[in-house]
Amino acid sequence: MIQPFDSLDAYERAMQLSVDDPEAFWSHVASQYSWIQPWSQVLNWDFRCYDVRWFEGGTLNITLNCLDRHLSDRGEKTALIWEPSDPEGASRSFTYQELHSEVERTAAALRRQGMGKGDRICVYMPMVPELAVVVLAIARIGAIHSVVFGGFSAHSLADRIADAGCRMVITADAIVRGGKILPCKEVVDEALTNCNGVERVWVFRVSGSDVDMIYGRDVDAHEEISRYSGTGGEAEVMQAEDPLFILYTSGSTGKPKGVVHTCGGYMVYAGYSFTHVFRAQPGEVFWCTADIGWITGHTYLLYGPLLQGSTTLMFEGIPIWPNPDRFWKVCERHSVNLLYTAPTAIRSLMAAGDAWVKPYSLNSLRVLGSVGEPINAEAWQWYHREVGKRRCPVTDTWWQTETGGILIAALAGLSPLKPTYAGLPLPGIQPVLLDAQGEIIEENEREGYLAVRFPWPSMIRTTWGDHERCRQTYFGAYPGYYFTGDGARRDADGYYRIIGRVDDVLNVSGHRIGTAEVENAINMHPLVAESAVVGVPDELKGQAIYAFVICKGDPQNPDNIRAEITATVTEFIGKIARPDKIQLVPGLPKTRSGKIMRRILRKIAEGDVSQLGDTSTLLDPSVVDQLIRGRI
Ligand code: PRX
Repeated sequence: MIQPFDSLDAYERAMQLSVDDPEAFWSHVASQYSWIQPWSQVLNWDFRCYDVRWFEGGTLNITLNCLDRHLSDRGEKTALIWEPSDPEGASRSFTYQELHSEVERTAAALRRQGMGKGDRICVYMPMVPELAVVVLAIARIGAIHSVVFGGFSAHSLADRIADAGCRMVITADAIVRGGKILPCKEVVDEALTNCNGVERVWVFRVSGSDVDMIYGRDVDAHEEISRYSGTGGEAEVMQAEDPLFILYTSGSTGKPKGVVHTCGGYMVYAGYSFTHVFRAQPGEVFWCTADIGWITGHTYLLYGPLLQGSTTLMFEGIPIWPNPDRFWKVCERHSVNLLYTAPTAIRSLMAAGDAWVKPYSLNSLRVLGSVGEPINAEAWQWYHREVGKRRCPVTDTWWQTETGGILIAALAGLSPLKPTYAGLPLPGIQPVLLDAQGEIIEENEREGYLAVRFPWPSMIRTTWGDHERCRQTYFGAYPGYYFTGDGARRDADGYYRIIGRVDDVLNVSGHRIGTAEVENAINMHPLVAESAVVGVPDELKGQAIYAFVICKGDPQNPDNIRAEITATVTEFIGKIARPDKIQLVPGLPKTRSGKIMRRILRKIAEGDVSQLGDTSTLLDPSVVDQLIRGRI
């Protein structure tokens, strides 16, 4: 297990070494994990054609490091605790030994289904322990997991299954969450009517809901796994650069991209970043509230804590059900030491009132983490004061699906706390701020585009099936740099403050959603001619979705159309992408070359119409007044 830095000095020394001799630095970090065969070359890289390879020649299996490595000294310690959505329900826990056995048996069963190295397996499941087990089992046999968040619709799921060419889907009968039972297997069935290539569907019966099983394709997963002892579940030998997983995320074009992470580099950085940012010790209880369907769940619910021998807590429910003290009940019930959640959850708990948290002493908490979107000062202070009782450092963590792990953070308890600042880069990370011409901004306090000039082990390797898209998206804008898509500022102490996306990507309740994706979905409605979507600041969600929609002909019943458009977005993406406001408009502000001026739309949506800037380049400037008049 890695020892976290014990002082800011130690952090600075590590930082210096990582810049002076990155290969020696990463070689030292990687050597703290168990490899089947050591690497012969630490790093090969070229940001221009985009080719990055870490630890080549090395072979490993991440599950040997997450599970087997702990068996001799931590076998009886708890690896995973599961808290059900129903507060009266029984929680479940697995020791490292038990989790290891479950994963081995599941791996053996997967192999008997004909799955193996390189096969893509889609996982569409609720937050039940079986989800953690199957993801690890897929990694164990060297297959590639593609977990799709359970809130995505059948259409989104079908697109992801088809794009990755999955041979198998693993699902559950239903999703139990916040007092509701939502369909899960049914969504898979619908998705599979729209794509070919899936031979096998495993169904975990976790809710007792009735499901139709398709003969020859669908298999009861519990029954199937119960046939195996573990023999046949041995870990596959993986090359460091073999893909470990694909995770789809939104970009500025309509089609979500499959971000590919690899076995060796991802493992090293997941464990390394988890340990240092949270200064986590083996045995501590870590609660990451994210769903495994997002990168945060992959790296800091599953892989990071298990790599460090911590106890990871998995929660099926939502923060405010049945009451807004559910989080605090869970913290006390399981003596949580480290809590890692999103500002949107913090803001909704804060809005529910202090009385819900005051009665809880929350003595076990040591560190509070925040992720996913900028945390505003008020939410930061409330988190620190009411939840951390002014004892626990709040560490804001900045990263992305593509970065695989946290790149910038306040190191818990080491670096001075600065509300609204994400903090310092981790050793090994070399961020820069660029101006519009791609020149490095040296001076402090000037806003720029956040980029990274040197590779790190868990960076995106490719977008599944389209390497050129990856190169173009991340390395095309500013040659020689990984471009994050975020704007940021740095202060005199080297602390980064993230401003937000500078592209057409929205962050709604910490969920990343592309405006083009939402527009494509809206445009699927037969009466829609064109649409444009922008984000507007929202107190709870961070950003809300505001859609301007041109209908074909004059809509007879605007309320109906709006409701139908909302339903269309739910059908094509999922509830998370539903517009908060839909304004039906006669036209959109376009330049003579046909480009929509989103800057103007954003101002109108925000209600800030006093300074719209230059509108003279518009094809039809009168459209602006019509939009302002029709604002909702
Ligand atoms: O804009 C940044 C924002 O979330 C984006 C990445 O989203 P995703 O790939 O879904 O990963 C989310 C969880 C890592 C970033 O480009 N973001 C993430 N963390 C922060 C943040 N913005 C400000 N502060 C953060 N701590």
